[in-house]
Amino acid sequence: MPSDISLTPASPHVRHGSNIGQPLTRRDGILKVTGQARYAADNHPAGMLHAVLAVSHIARGRVVSLDVVAAKAHPGVVEVMTPANRPPLAEDPDAKTNPFMFRLDLLQNDRVRYVSQPIAVVIAETLEAATEGAALLAPQYEAEPARIGLDADESFVPPAVGVGHPAEVRHGDVEQGLDAAVHRIEVTYETPAQYHNAMEPHAIVAAWDGDALTIDTPTQGLAMAQARIAGLLGIAPGKIHIRSPFLGGGFGAKGLIAGPQILGILAAQLVGRPVKLVMRREQLSGPVGHRSPSRQTMRLGTDAEGALTALSHQAKIATSSFDDFFEPAAGASHALYASPAIVTQHEAVRLDTGTPLFMRAPGEATGSIALESAIDEAAWACGMDPLAFRLKNYAEVEPISGKPFSSKALRECYTEGAVRFGWWERRLEPRQMRDAAGLLVGWGVGTATFPALMFQGEARAVIRRDGTGVMETGAHDMGQGAWTALAQIAADALGLELDQVAFRAGTSDLPDAGIAGGSAHTATAGMALHNAGAAVIAKLADLATGDERSPLFGAGNAGVMARGGRLHRRDDESRSESYAEVLDRAGLAEIEARGQGTADPVLQQHYAMHAHGAVFAEVKVDPELGQIRATRLIGAFAAGRIINPRMVQSQYLGGMIWGVSFALHEEAIADRRSGRILNANLAEYHIPVNADVPSLEAVLVDEHDPHVNALGIKGVGEIGITGSAGAIANAVWHATGIRPRRFPIRIDDLLAQETP
Ligand code: MOS
Repeated sequence: MPSDISLTPASPHVRHGSNIGQPLTRRDGILKVTGQARYAADNHPAGMLHAVLAVSHIARGRVVSLDVVAAKAHPGVVEVMTPANRPPLAEDPDAKTNPFMFRLDLLQNDRVRYVSQPIAVVIAETLEAATEGAALLAPQYEAEPARIGLDADESFVPPAVGVGHPAEVRHGDVEQGLDAAVHRIEVTYETPAQYHNAMEPHAIVAAWDGDALTIDTPTQGLAMAQARIAGLLGIAPGKIHIRSPFLGGGFGAKGLIAGPQILGILAAQLVGRPVKLVMRREQLSGPVGHRSPSRQTMRLGTDAEGALTALSHQAKIATSSFDDFFEPAAGASHALYASPAIVTQHEAVRLDTGTPLFMRAPGEATGSIALESAIDEAAWACGMDPLAFRLKNYAEVEPISGKPFSSKALRECYTEGAVRFGWWERRLEPRQMRDAAGLLVGWGVGTATFPALMFQGEARAVIRRDGTGVMETGAHDMGQGAWTALAQIAADALGLELDQVAFRAGTSDLPDAGIAGGSAHTATAGMALHNAGAAVIAKLADLATGDERSPLFGAGNAGVMARGGRLHRRDDESRSESYAEVLDRAGLAEIEARGQGTADPVLQQHYAMHAHGAVFAEVKVDPELGQIRATRLIGAFAAGRIINPRMVQSQYLGGMIWGVSFALHEEAIADRRSGRILNANLAEYHIPVNADVPSLEAVLVDEHDPHVNALGIKGVGEIGITGSAGAIANAVWHATGIRPRRFPIRIDDLLAQETP
């Protein structure tokens, strides 16, 4: 695999005509299943040493001693990096100049702020020697009581939540709306801390060559990582070359460069040799982010007909003692249901944990589970079918802002999903349905939504004299299929077939494609490619139409179109010329242009932009044992233009499975005395295995969006998780008559209560 990641196209899947919209298989699929795809930790430059992190086992206090002498005496150990000898930094790792900075623990002192904080790095000839050396450090601590759990400290109102969103949003008079309501509910839900647990742990191979640095490391944000490293090390960004061709999952944990990755670079600097550092599974429950636990109180009022009169969503969340990421959980209630009065509020507590960070649908996943459960409770209070209740409170315009939606096919999602599921056979009352084996059967629905975002991206397009093209953007494929979908956009933008375009991505020397996050990567990098292609075609058209010898002479730019490697006159398509002929006559080896991908601020001001979906769930519950199985999940989603339906379906299914996980499995359990995560391993941190995954179907509902961007792309990466967990919880209620109020739903929650 060359480092520039020029992927050979999977030619059997190349279709002629428009590449966008084709269900192509992954271009990197064969590399992955044959083991040829080289992940960061697969790189072994000559002379490479192995580094192992020593991490704190207390949550708060000081490291008072490390037995560096014993560690260094171990055969094969080359060096031990501690605060005493760590190479100097140009920037304080605790400085934060924008919300996209993660405060880092880079051995700046002896202070401990959470369990699994790096306190030393042992560098050795072998992984085994480094591991043994780290054990020999035998740290001694001065421990202070740890603040663990949402009630552990005084809460406060955060200055902002998410990335710069207000912590409190008010619209109308909620108290008045509740007073006037015929039906009212007030309920509190709890969700746990979760860890990303990507299959590939954070890893880095760092090699210095003089003052130039080459890094193999997985990242969802090449340019931001490069800038952060440059700032910390005090070197020019251009001196840093990052290769990140494949990620074994990111889910937000690899969005911002984490401390251990920087420590790998510093270790290589200290010993003057290439160093590889791979985090151990249990070390991931500290310095690389997690999803905050939450406690959410929902107050809803409705009139006699079931129309909402008020919606109040209050979320208590946690952050670390030293950083400021606040999960915007209550924001899930901003844009979904119509109500004359809506208030969303956050309060936060500082805990002795690593800093929470983005984790797939940060805010929406956590918040929608409370919102969708509460909507279901309100529907029951009104005696209404939960889907009919959602349709009754359908938002025709964005509720708080009053803006029209750029497009919104949620009604079609409800209809399509309900028909496929057979929803209208559902009994209104709970605990009415059983299967042949006597298991309780429940059906639930949840609405899915995620904003259609764009960041800032750039791409470079080249057309060569042989008529082929090159498209470059520093995009990231974390498993979502970016290489495939973006190459499809790139080929169409050049008017070429996939096998005529060398698509390059995944390295920091390419134009900045923007972060692969916020479900915005296809829109951002895709629009950059689209615009770069248009720009290079325009240059080519200028060459042709300005040349008397061309059949296109005098057609003018607007009168020319690119298709099949040729420029055609629009008014007479028989008059055409190949790209190769145009360049040949002009005596040019190639022609290039750049393009940007970014949101249009004017359109954003006028329109609310969101993707939507509806998820229908069936569960079966053993009436005696309380054992829950999700048995069927159908999601119908509308997210604008679909670039590759196969990849998109895979994203939706993955999100829906994570919904199963959120509802039924996943939870990080912290020991309240020590702060240690008791299940920081894949045996005890429960996620669905194949046996837990129900029959799944993701339906792609057509949606044309003329405003969101020129390609009409909304983004699909995170929406699948947002409706699914609530749908499953609602199905559990429908099966049992017991309302789940803490997640994951446990057997004992279903057994402890008196059943009706
Ligand atoms: Mo996502 S949590 O924006 O990687």
